Amino acid sequence: MNIDTFCRQLPKLELHAHLNGSLSRFTMLELQRYLADNGMADKSNVFLDEFQIGAGDTRNLSDCFQVFNIAHALTSTKKTLSMATALTIKEFEDDGCCYIELRSTPRTTPHMTMSEYVETIVQTMRKETADMTIISCLIISINRSSTHEDANIIADVAIEYHTKYPDTVVGIELSGNPAVGKFQNFLPALDRARKAGLKVTLHCGEICNQQEVIEMLNFKPDRIGHGVCIHPLFGGNDATWELLCKSQIPVEICLTSNVNTKSTQDYNSHHFKELYNAKVPVVICTDDKGVFATSLSQEYRICAETFGIEQSKLARLSLSACNYIFAEDKRKILSDTMLNFINKYEL
Ligand code: IMP
Ligand code: ZN
Repeated sequence: MNIDTFCRQLPKLELHAHLNGSLSRFTMLELQRYLADNGMADKSNVFLDEFQIGAGDTRNLSDCFQVFNIAHALTSTKKTLSMATALTIKEFEDDGCCYIELRSTPRTTPHMTMSEYVETIVQTMRKETADMTIISCLIISINRSSTHEDANIIADVAIEYHTKYPDTVVGIELSGNPAVGKFQNFLPALDRARKAGLKVTLHCGEICNQQEVIEMLNFKPDRIGHGVCIHPLFGGNDATWELLCKSQIPVEICLTSNVNTKSTQDYNSHHFKELYNAKVPVVICTDDKGVFATSLSQEYRICAETFGIEQSKLARLSLSACNYIFAEDKRKILSDTMLNFINKYEL
């Protein structure tokens, strides 16, 4: 099977996808049309072309965070947030994804409270996408630029919805511009959520800050995102690298995101190689498939081609992701799906 077809057919798990960064152009146009038809046209059509960030983009990392305002303008009503959730999950399913942990930051908008924001996504996952074969759940995001008070409110909402819908709201995470805010300020909110049963993942080492990487790894999150500046070759040091290797915390790898935001020079020099060779658990993810014009199968293909990973190893990489999912009760059904594929193609 050629690598393109193989990567699309391979059952895959998406563990790091931000809802408002994952909107395709098709989805954004659908949302725009809905808002226009209902007399709520916004001005985001002017900026739609600025939503995507390609490899040679001259915008710096901080500029990249502005693009999410374009998506946020489109997902500020319950209806469009629900449409965005359902359309995005469907696109992942069409790309051969059998499980997704979609993440999103609860916002207060003129049409919704933070609780209603979460309720809308949860009900869409439980009702509108229930007839799809893909299993979807939600990780609640805290933005690093939010206040200590807002972080605590989000933790409260996350705990409330995890208690009500433990199968759907499975985790909490810290994201946002890594140059803003301090991990320590969010530690109490994250710790409280963890004690209430939510799993935790942290964007870690997206820019170089060895002290923060150590604080994060010592917090022992269930997974980390990116993990760029941990190996000494990429701005980490021996202490950060040894701590990661010893902890065996799984790393959500987002190849195109790192290249396009210039956290990584190019695919060939991506830290995936160091992590994979050192047997640190890794999962291939998209981060923001809309912003970076990618897909999960494309990320698997880039990984295979860049690092020379043969199809049987790629299938096992995908299979291993079952060990790191937050909805632990889904592990068996997902690994059976993967093993059927592996056996069918004698990989
Ligand atoms: P949302 O949480 O669904 O609104 O998705 C967009 C948000 O995800 C952004 O406002 C950021 O806070 C976060 N995000 C998306 N991509 C990245 C990334 O590469 N690093 C850190 N945060 C990110
Ligand atoms: Zn991310």
